[in-house]
Amino acid sequence: MSETKKLFVKTYGCQMNVYDSERMAGALGQSGYEETDDPSNADMILLNTCHIREKAAEKVYSELGRLRPLKDANPDLKIGVAGCVAQAEGEEIMRRAPVVDLVVGPQAYHRLPEMEAKTRTGQKALDTEFPEEDKFDHLPSPRGPKMRRAPAAFLTVQEGCDKFCAFCVVPYTRGAEVSRPAPRLLAEARDLVERGVCEVTLLGQNVNAYHGAGEGGDWSLARLVRELAKIDGLERIRYTTSHPNDMTDDLIEAHGEVEKLMPYLHLPVQAGSDSVLKGMNRKHTAESYLRLLERIRAARPDIALSGDFIVGFPGESDADFEDTLALCREVRYAAAFSFKYSPRPGTPASGRTFVSDEVASERLARLQALLTEHQRDFQQAQVGKTLPILIEKEGREPGQMIGKSPYLQAVHLDAAPDTVGQIIQTRIVRSNPNSLAGEAI
Ligand code: 5AD
Ligand code: SF4
Repeated sequence: MSETKKLFVKTYGCQMNVYDSERMAGALGQSGYEETDDPSNADMILLNTCHIREKAAEKVYSELGRLRPLKDANPDLKIGVAGCVAQAEGEEIMRRAPVVDLVVGPQAYHRLPEMEAKTRTGQKALDTEFPEEDKFDHLPSPRGPKMRRAPAAFLTVQEGCDKFCAFCVVPYTRGAEVSRPAPRLLAEARDLVERGVCEVTLLGQNVNAYHGAGEGGDWSLARLVRELAKIDGLERIRYTTSHPNDMTDDLIEAHGEVEKLMPYLHLPVQAGSDSVLKGMNRKHTAESYLRLLERIRAARPDIALSGDFIVGFPGESDADFEDTLALCREVRYAAAFSFKYSPRPGTPASGRTFVSDEVASERLARLQALLTEHQRDFQQAQVGKTLPILIEKEGREPGQMIGKSPYLQAVHLDAAPDTVGQIIQTRIVRSNPNSLAGEAI
């Protein structure tokens, strides 16, 4: 191996990008790179970007502007753009930002070592193909051979999306739905457990549409979850993000039967009005969504729900927006993410007239106030309960540790530093807006 070079990776957007960044660092490890937290001493800076909303994409260009002086100071520094902005605007990035040496789309990460070598000869490298081969077959597992890992890890099981919601770029940036074969995922999960992981979050843009090849034919997500639950030492399983139309009976049953499957489900509805849902091409109604939640709650009564919302979608009237508020009041989400509609180039809704920014901002503020109220109520409702907390890391105060409740809440408690990776029964004594305080029992 050649001399060690320093790699700085900055990750934007969703958890899949977090996972991909680790795999990219692994791939570049083969070219002699080690990760650094300091961009100013890096030999290569990689921005792993998100294209989901306009603001997310614009961040990339401002960040590239800020990196300019580093490149002026060190002409050997290579700058790369990966992720969904790279996929969507590869050529334009090269034109608009001459500091960029390398542009790589999410399906081509296994080609990074060759691409990096090309930049070392002074050439630019661009790859935004959707190759036939599975990139994961060629990517080493994250962060080198047998390094110990944090107790909670991501595992990408499925990528891409065939749903074509009218607002969304994902089907274009991440391509058609592809599920990774089940045996590979089981092997990867076992490997994670050997490195100290006890919670995995299965990732996919449409994770509950998972249908990977397994023993005896294609496996559903429910089957995969049941098999993962048999791995000794793997204590907790989560998955995200799901589409309501793929919440199959077997998956709902798994929520009732598989103890290791955590009682938390991110199930975006986006809006509460049927005419807006139709315009979004969601292929479900508010009513069918609510009935689905009833079935899920019947299987797992304590399940915490989270959702995503878009306000100001083309055609959204005041009455439509009121329907969204009404749906939220009915569901009472434990957590939620809400956004103003942002027209994305190439998506079906992008040509439609949308709600003025003023109205959208006002709606967003009202929705967020309601969602925050529900989230606080949910936090408050934990006080007095005893919950199993998975200890993840040290807190800011001496002697304090931070862990996660089954409902994905951060919990602070006093415990020894060597409890990382343990699940500790904890009485919740106080609730803050974004965390809970507890005492180990
Ligand atoms: N504008 C605003 N929000 C969007 N999302 C996806 N596309 C857009 C868009 N064009 C939101 C959705 C999705 C979440 C990841 O981002 O709510 O569930
Ligand atoms: Fe953003 Fe979607 Fe790409 Fe994730 S998949 S980085 S959310 S555009």
